Amino acid sequence: MMDASRIMVALDYPGVKEASSCVQDLSGSGVYLKVGMQLYYAAGPAYVAALKENGYSVFLDLKVHDIPNTASGAMQSLASLGVDMVNVHAAGGRRMMEAAREGLEKGTPAGGKRSLLIGVTQLTSTNIETMNWEIGIPGSVEECVVRYAQLVKDSGLDGVVASPREVPLIKQACGADFLTVTPGIRPAGADAGDQQRITTPEEAIKLGSDYLVIGRAITQAAQPRQALDDIVQQISSLGV
Ligand code: C5P
Repeated sequence: MMDASRIMVALDYPGVKEASSCVQDLSGSGVYLKVGMQLYYAAGPAYVAALKENGYSVFLDLKVHDIPNTASGAMQSLASLGVDMVNVHAAGGRRMMEAAREGLEKGTPAGGKRSLLIGVTQLTSTNIETMNWEIGIPGSVEECVVRYAQLVKDSGLDGVVASPREVPLIKQACGADFLTVTPGIRPAGADAGDQQRITTPEEAIKLGSDYLVIGRAITQAAQPRQALDDIVQQISSLGV
């Protein structure tokens, strides 16, 4: 039976007050919490540290993308928070990713556990038109995602953020142990919003995703805990 530890709830809230009410509702579920830019820029490192003190697994989703020296420094600062997972954009290239990993290692307190470091491939809100004609990357989204995943692996990172649809190709190219963290999850009938490359939670699990990032389908529900429990139950019925 699957528990909630492979579900990461995206706490995309304007501040501590709103986030705390959701976290309280989810307490005891064993869910992973994802803090992104909106909440981190408003609440700062103290809130993240508090979540860790309360025993939560935390993915700090700040998507660092800068020159290698700055990415390394950013990771060195973040390492002191003791979160479980942090990330960078694969589009920053190999030297940036290697520097980020070095910074993370340098900043991890002696005897502490290094946060997992994940590379963002293509955002799940990106479609082929955006990628080809706005960003200027030719080819299919899948080709780009797999190429980025290989680069992320070669740079010594632990896994990628991608759409669940791309997980089989990524696992084939990078191995079963290479982690896949997948946003763009919508329970059947839910609004896609700004996301483009989406699947249901059950499809994501069937496709081999390690962690399912779910935001609005839980955080905007009248009862977030109920929405989470429904998703866990649907997934458990797959017998995984
Ligand atoms: O509300 P929703 O389920 O669409 O939230 C998805 C979350 O995953 C958001 O916090 C978004 O920033 C994040 N994310 C994403 N696509 C990526 C990486 C992160 O949607 N490639």
